[in-house]
Order: sequence, then C-alpha cells, then structure tokens
Amino acid sequence: MKVTVVGAGNVGATCANCIAEKDIVNEVVLLDIKEGVAEGKSLDMWQTAPINLYDTRIKGVTNDYEATNNSEVVVITSGLPRKPGMSRDDLIATNAGIVKSVTENIIKHSPNAKIIIVSNPLDVMCYCAYLAAKIDSSRVFGMAGILDTARYRAFLAEALNVSPKDIQALLLGGHGDTMVPLPRYTTVGGIPVTELIDHDTLHAIIERTKVGGGELVKLMGTSAWYAPGAAAAQMVEAIVCNHRRVFPVCALLNGEYGMNNIYLGVPVILGKNGIEKIIEVKLDKDEQELLAQSAKAVKTVMNVLDDMKLFN
Ligand code: NAI
Ligand code: 2OP
Repeated sequence: MKVTVVGAGNVGATCANCIAEKDIVNEVVLLDIKEGVAEGKSLDMWQTAPINLYDTRIKGVTNDYEATNNSEVVVITSGLPRKPGMSRDDLIATNAGIVKSVTENIIKHSPNAKIIIVSNPLDVMCYCAYLAAKIDSSRVFGMAGILDTARYRAFLAEALNVSPKDIQALLLGGHGDTMVPLPRYTTVGGIPVTELIDHDTLHAIIERTKVGGGELVKLMGTSAWYAPGAAAAQMVEAIVCNHRRVFPVCALLNGEYGMNNIYLGVPVILGKNGIEKIIEVKLDKDEQELLAQSAKAVKTVMNVLDDMKLFN
C-alpha cells in the first residue's frame, strides 16, 4: 500500500516521517517542487529505519506524479505557511492555485485516493480541492480538528496535572480563531471536565486554544509542524488500517448541523472509504450560535475563492 505526501516542508516531512514510523504501509512518496528537497529528506528519514525499526520505504521525488500512481491516501501540505502578523486567510491567493493544480495531478494518477488537505486556509482549501478533484466529498477532507483538540487536551492536561491520554474532547467549526471547543463534550477519564476545573481556568484554556496556532507563529516566525504532521499521520492510519476512529475532521456539510455546501470541522468516523459517517451531536443555543459565527467566517473566505474564478 502506498501513501503520498505532497509538500516536503515542515509539516509534510514530519507527516511522512510519522507515517513511516507507524510501519503501516509499504511506501511513502514525498513530493515537492523544490529540486532535491524531497529526495534529501526522504533519504535522511529512511536512514532512521534501522534505528527506529520500521520497513516502510520512503521515496522523495521532484514533481514526479508518476511515482505517486495508485496511492491509497494523499496528504496535501503544499503551500505557504503564515508569518507573524498574517492570518491563515491571507494565504488564499497563493495556496488556492497550488492546491488546485496539485489535486488535479493527484487525482489523475490516483483516481481512488482519499485526499487529506492540510494547506491553509484549511476549510476553504478543502473546498478548493473538492472542486478540483470532482470526486465524492467522503474522499476529500481536511486535518485541523485533531490538531486543535490536541492543543486543547495538552493545555488541560497541564492545568489538571493528568495524562493527556485520558482527556477526550470535541471541537467544531472552522480552523480559525472562531473555532468552537465544546466543554460539554470534554471528559477526563470519563468525568466531565467541568467537575474538575473552575470556569475561569477552563475559559482561559479555550481562548488559548483558539489562538494556539498564532501563539506558535509568534514564537517561531512560521507555523507549527510537529503536532500538525502527527495529526495528519493519525488520519492516514485510521484510513489505511480501517480503524473507524471518531475524529473531528473538516468535512463537506450537506444538511448536517443545518449547513449546506460548506467545509467545517465536525466529528466523523474515519475508515477505509474516508469519511464513513458524519456524526451530528446535539448543540445548545450558545453552541449553535458560535458554530454559525464560525461558518460565517469560513463563508467570507469562500467568497474570496469564488472571486478568484479558478473554477470558471
Ligand atoms: P513549508 O513552507 O515548510 O512547506 C511547504 C512546502 O510546499 C515547500 O517545501 C514548498 O516547496 C512546497 N510546495 C509549494 N508549492 C508546491 C507545489 N505546487 N507542489 C509541490 N510542493 C509545493 O510550510 P509548512 O509549515 O509545511 O506548511 C504547509 C501548509 O500547511 C501551510 O499552508 C500551512 O499554513 C498549513 N498548515 C496547516 C495546518 C492545519 O492544521 N491544517 C497546521 C500547520 C500548517
Ligand atoms: C496551525 O494551527 C497554522 O494552521 C496552522 O498551527
């Protein structure tokens, strides 16, 4: 079984490395437009195989889509990351063209692939890839919710001084500052989080989670990659192993949560066919309002994509 990662930058290379270390596929192809970069990083990664004890072959290529033929899953990370002062939405002008052309090439060579989008602005890049791929939306979706909930869970684990393994959480909406962490659906070893933490501390953690990406951009001058790469690799694992994991994933909504024709983060079952099912949880009035605000923010960026007339 083959998996391709497009973009051998920070997130793509990390993701390819995580997939290889899981030892769940025969081959990971890493593709970039920059001559030699994917080849070099792949060779370096492959030389960790005798140390980290896995068999997955890693092959780096420069824009050679033949090498990606018949991939089961493709992760698209190609595109600019944000710099300090930029929002994810500022990236659309460059990244929409990249995501469109990469998706067209991918689907030509792997017509049955499940496509995981990572490039930002995430929700709208998913929509862009969906338009370019012309396949069922169950096979085109995005990584954001696993990362955003991981940040939320990590902050909670620190505050409660417990293992992050025992924190389960759900988060809805767009991958932006309007994302909607849901304390009502957050548990610590099965115990509702609200029984273990005071309101103000929880509220501060939610606010920190919403701007968690920006916090890292300020520190590093570019966006994060360890957690994003690991999160995308976890999605790949759920698909290639048909684990039917329940994850927050950026999915096309057609009636779910009362929304239509918009990509937003929602809980799904992820298995061998991609999105096996979108799960609708009950939201109270405040949560519904927050989700509507998040959808409005995503719609604004979708309008920018429309104005670019890439698909006319
Ligand atoms: P990076 O700059 O390190 O890597 C991007 C790579 O894409 C570069 O190596 C570049 O040469 C390559 N590339 C550009 N155009 C290409 C094309 N047409 N074909 C193949 N490769 C191409 O950036 P980084 O940090 O890896 O981030 C990648 C993207 O992921 C950004 O848009 C970033 O905002 C996004 N991101 C999304 C997250 C999420 O939660 N969804 C989390 C972190 C980053
Ligand atoms: C992140 O949340 C920038 O989307 C990227 O780290």
